[in-house]
Amino acid sequence: MNAGLNHCTMPRHVALIMDGNGRWAAKRKLPRLEGHRAGAEALRAIVQECPKLDVRYLTVFAFSTENWRRDPAEVNELMALMRDYADSEINQLQENGVRVEFIGDLSRLDNGVAAQLETITRETRSGDRLRLTVAVNYGARAEITAALRHLAARIDKGDLDPDDINESVMQTHLMTADLPDPDLIIRTSGELRLSNFLLWQSAYSEFEFVDTLWPDFTPEVLRDILIRYPNRSRRFGANGK
Ligand code: FPP
Repeated sequence: MNAGLNHCTMPRHVALIMDGNGRWAAKRKLPRLEGHRAGAEALRAIVQECPKLDVRYLTVFAFSTENWRRDPAEVNELMALMRDYADSEINQLQENGVRVEFIGDLSRLDNGVAAQLETITRETRSGDRLRLTVAVNYGARAEITAALRHLAARIDKGDLDPDDINESVMQTHLMTADLPDPDLIIRTSGELRLSNFLLWQSAYSEFEFVDTLWPDFTPEVLRDILIRYPNRSRRFGANGK
């Protein structure tokens, strides 16, 4: 049992904006790629820690629709890192019962990267201790726009009455259709923004912003945040009586 942690009130779904890899590398006069590599190592440790903390869903922002604006060399390095991570981690993820899935538009990815992401999704399908959702070429506005396009097409075909569109119908057209909303969203590196991440799903999420740069985000930092989490009073708009 983990002393100090109240499992009944632990967040079931944690989402992470892993920010600060570049600054971590700059502080050490290293190329940015080294920051991303260290970031991938940090993620590995967090994925291992989550089941021990009763976190059942972990969603991480790995590459946004806006990240294509980065130097093409950095984009290529990030893609190669994700492909290699998916390749080298399969066994360990299977052993730990981690099911890996992706959200985002994967059609723009290089064939080799997309194929490796498909492989890890297939090979970890039976994992039942943690669902790790990795957002790649993901943007919440693009996600909501795609959902609306899909709904409009259904109306056009006569398959859906506009009066039948409600919040749960919207929800089933999002990329996260079969995930609960995140209870807690953590952003590292001191930035106070959502940056187009899970805009619909975060309506009632709690937020935690920490100064730690992502590669320094250890299981202990996560544990410290989760220890404080039960003190929050989540009322979902009700008055708390
Ligand atoms: C933000 O740091 C981080 C990213 C854009 C990429 C996140 C990627 C990883 C943690 C590693 C690989 C991921 C997987 C799934 C294996 P930044 O570069 O914007 O940092 P900066 O703001 O300090 O420049």
